[in-house]
Amino acid sequence: MSTLKMAIQKSGRLNQDSLKIIKDCGISIDNGKDQLKASASNFPLEVFYLRNGDIPQYLRDGVVDVAIIGENVLIEKGQDIDFVERLGFSKCKVSLAVPKNEIYTDMSYFEGKKIATSYPNTVQKYLNAASVSTNVHLINGSVEIAPNIGLADGICDIVSSGSTLFKNNLKEVEVLLKSEAVLAVSPRISVETQKVLDKLQFRIQSVLKGRN
Ligand code: PRP
Ligand code: MG
Repeated sequence: MSTLKMAIQKSGRLNQDSLKIIKDCGISIDNGKDQLKASASNFPLEVFYLRNGDIPQYLRDGVVDVAIIGENVLIEKGQDIDFVERLGFSKCKVSLAVPKNEIYTDMSYFEGKKIATSYPNTVQKYLNAASVSTNVHLINGSVEIAPNIGLADGICDIVSSGSTLFKNNLKEVEVLLKSEAVLAVSPRISVETQKVLDKLQFRIQSVLKGRN
């Protein structure tokens, strides 16, 4: 039987819940913390620990067959990649926020301004739809600090509990999308490997049913 190669987030919010759902499927993987790759002992599965933002390209290239990834990352970097299952965890929003003392009425606020974000494509699409012309500045982490250090007028990033916005004196003004973890599939998965995926997906569906 062929082995299913799965990418999960190396560190960050999805990592623990991704490992948990694999475990709940009855699959034991050797979880050596520093390893970037681990094999299951009782299922034809190999797990690769990768950076979130790299995962869409690995799927596209067929380096991995499936991935547990935030839908927000697929929308930003992998519109061409399908997912077969919503996994019900890591729910979040991707939102625009501005300093909390600003008076905000609508998107025209951002005309001629600067937005810092890790989601440039998602932001640009939203700006285009609103016919607003804004400078979009890419930063890869700690985005919420940008307005406080004079780097941008507003930010666009993930909002989960809202505590990062709160701590940085920002307020959410537009919700661009809602997201959760999904099981995404490489367009290059082989027929043989697809059979292994079908087995895994069946187990995942049972686990999700049990959780509801
Ligand atoms: C993520 C995200 C937001 C924050 C949202 O950052 O980029 O900043 O979590 O969560 P909250 O609404 O519950 O506060 P993370 O802490 O993962 O670090 P990073 O931005 O440096 O990647
Ligand atoms: Mg952050």
